Amino acid sequence: MKLGVCTGGGDCAGLNAVLRSLVLCARTRGDTTIIGIMEGINGLAANPPRHQILFSPAGDGLGGHNGLKGLDEFVLDTLLTLGGTYLTTSNAGNPFRDAREGAAYRADVLRGYKSLGLDGLIVIGGDGTHCIAAELRESGIQVIGIPKTIDNDYVDSELAVGFTSAVDVATEALMRVNSSGASHGRVMVVEVMGRNAGYIALHSGIASGADVILLPERPFSRENLAEHLKTKVLSRKNHALVVCAEGARAGSEGLKYRVSASGTRQLGGIAEVVATFLHGALKYDTRSSVLGHIQRGSQPDPVDRILAARFATRAMRLAHEKKFGSMVVLRKGEVEVTAYPDARSRGGSAARCLDPNDPTIIAAQDMGVYCGEA
Ligand code: F6P
Repeated sequence: MKLGVCTGGGDCAGLNAVLRSLVLCARTRGDTTIIGIMEGINGLAANPPRHQILFSPAGDGLGGHNGLKGLDEFVLDTLLTLGGTYLTTSNAGNPFRDAREGAAYRADVLRGYKSLGLDGLIVIGGDGTHCIAAELRESGIQVIGIPKTIDNDYVDSELAVGFTSAVDVATEALMRVNSSGASHGRVMVVEVMGRNAGYIALHSGIASGADVILLPERPFSRENLAEHLKTKVLSRKNHALVVCAEGARAGSEGLKYRVSASGTRQLGGIAEVVATFLHGALKYDTRSSVLGHIQRGSQPDPVDRILAARFATRAMRLAHEKKFGSMVVLRKGEVEVTAYPDARSRGGSAARCLDPNDPTIIAAQDMGVYCGEA
């Protein structure tokens, strides 16, 4: 069997661990060639397709552009702990939003898929990538999906590859900021990623002992925020730690966006808005920081390494059972298999957000943390 694998969307820790697990499975079986597609699904659309052989069993006559019949042992070992993605990725939007662009993309990907002689494609991605692959399935491309995203907002899975490592990085950073805040007697406001989901903010906020956690799912009241810090936090100690999800907002105020250096509009800027407001309201020395892409580039933590192994091995079994059109997910701590998402029924994209009354939010509130309004 000849399987392609690609990583799409934003990079995260644990992608390389998934690739390594797939290669190890193929080597153990001895009957599977693994072809890595570069730059997400876009590598298949290129002519010739951008790819490299990750593993090839003896005698299948292949040779990658690196001149090897697969990854050497040193690289394979390194992949377990290496951040980012060895295959590179692309986060450039959905070509199917435009009918003509979508039709051309479909034809290009199909040509690449056929020219490589693939029996199937393992797609490691977030919701956006799986929506693109769902469209391609309609042209006969055989897909198995693995969810990854630091935001943990993949709709069908309680955990996606990359989330716990991002929480680990954010927690460490928040604790560093907090010790500086304590030393200077300041209110420190830190913005973390997550798009429209508050998982990173909630989990890193609790793990770092934050006094306030502002979440997209629970718009905050400026008045209640200031009051909480004044009467419940700064009455007891000389400093405070406020964690802001990038998608957090006050009441009916709009989301904050900034324009990246290359002109893309992205969520961000809420920490500075909150810090400016709190300085005015509390007359306290206040600083804001944005963690940004630092959250994406760590080594995978053990949870992500294990999740990578569990997802990849199940995906490989599914491929050999010819159960394409499926997705591996985690539910109640167990790896399960669901039908691959249907792009159309989802309206192109769907993300999982926190329930405003999620038990973990309630736990934070029970400890006196202000988490916005339900
Ligand atoms: O979806 C992952 C994520 O890191 C979000 O948390 C963040 O908003 C976005 O990607 C940043 O995208 P980019 O890498 O394109 O700047």
